[in-house]
Amino acid sequence: MPISPPDGYAPPPTLLSGRRLLITGAGDGLGRATALACAAHGASVILLGRTVAKLEAVYDQISAAGGSAAIYPMNLAGASWADYFELATVIEREFGGLDGVLHAAAHFKQFSPLYDVEPKDWIESLQVNLTAAFSLTRHCLPLLTKSDDASVVFVGDRPGREPRPFGGAYGITKAAVEQMAQMWASELKSKPQLRFNTYDPGAMRTALRKKGYPGELPEETPPPDSAVATLLWLLGPESRGVSGQRF
Ligand SMILES: NC(=O)c1ccc[n+]([C@@H]2O[C@H](COP(=O)([O-])OP(=O)(O)OC[C@H]3O[C@@H](n4cnc5c(N)ncnc54)[C@H](OP(=O)(O)O)[C@@H]3O)[C@@H](O)[C@H]2O)c1
Repeated sequence: MPISPPDGYAPPPTLLSGRRLLITGAGDGLGRATALACAAHGASVILLGRTVAKLEAVYDQISAAGGSAAIYPMNLAGASWADYFELATVIEREFGGLDGVLHAAAHFKQFSPLYDVEPKDWIESLQVNLTAAFSLTRHCLPLLTKSDDASVVFVGDRPGREPRPFGGAYGITKAAVEQMAQMWASELKSKPQLRFNTYDPGAMRTALRKKGYPGELPEETPPPDSAVATLLWLLGPESRGVSGQRF
């Protein structure tokens, strides 16, 4: 088993056939690009996000291409323990199980010194980037455990891997997510059907990126599609057995 996807990895068209995957932040950016690619490679995709119109547009695109998708609108900033329980219950009822989760949703306001982080930004960063990623994984775990091969991927970022100044609440939550993924992987290593990894996609031309780099020209950063191949590999069977790793 290679520890990472081969250079120029080109996923086979049926890579994700039969897989039921939940993707947060599926209405835009990396989540959207990955949802479209997962459906195109045979997965049934549960599109979770905040803005219904964006989710509907992704749903329509997947359906028009003959793929399978469902929409689950949810504002992760205000979601409760009970909401995550209900989400897992609905997935079990409607899909009969779950084979993977991509945690792509993120709240980011701006780069700033810690001293200047506003209370609302702090709380929303923790809610969306950390609490939601924990609670959703926690409540979906019984479903994932029943899968033969379940993959949970948390999306990381450089400020969460290196303690750099001005990463703000976002950087702190991304660092905590890296730690959390390692903890899930080591606590559950007796269950080889479960794997937990993090993936830093690098700079991508998205709404989130624009908040941090408002002066950047569009052609200076690649679109989110450029980061999708590694995610397909991580969510698919070719990375079976790979857990507790950072990509
Ligand atoms: N862009 C980069 O350069 C870069 C670099 C490294 C890592 N990342 C990571 O990549 C991931 C995807 O980010 P992106 O760049 O693709 O950003 P994006 O295009 O802004 O997408 C972020 C997604 O998160 C959703 N979201 C935000 N707050 C939410 C909430 N309260 N409830 C539910 N959904 C919520 C957004 O929904 P709405 O569209 O409805 O607001 C959007 O679909 C993030 O984890 C980010 O940290 C990005």
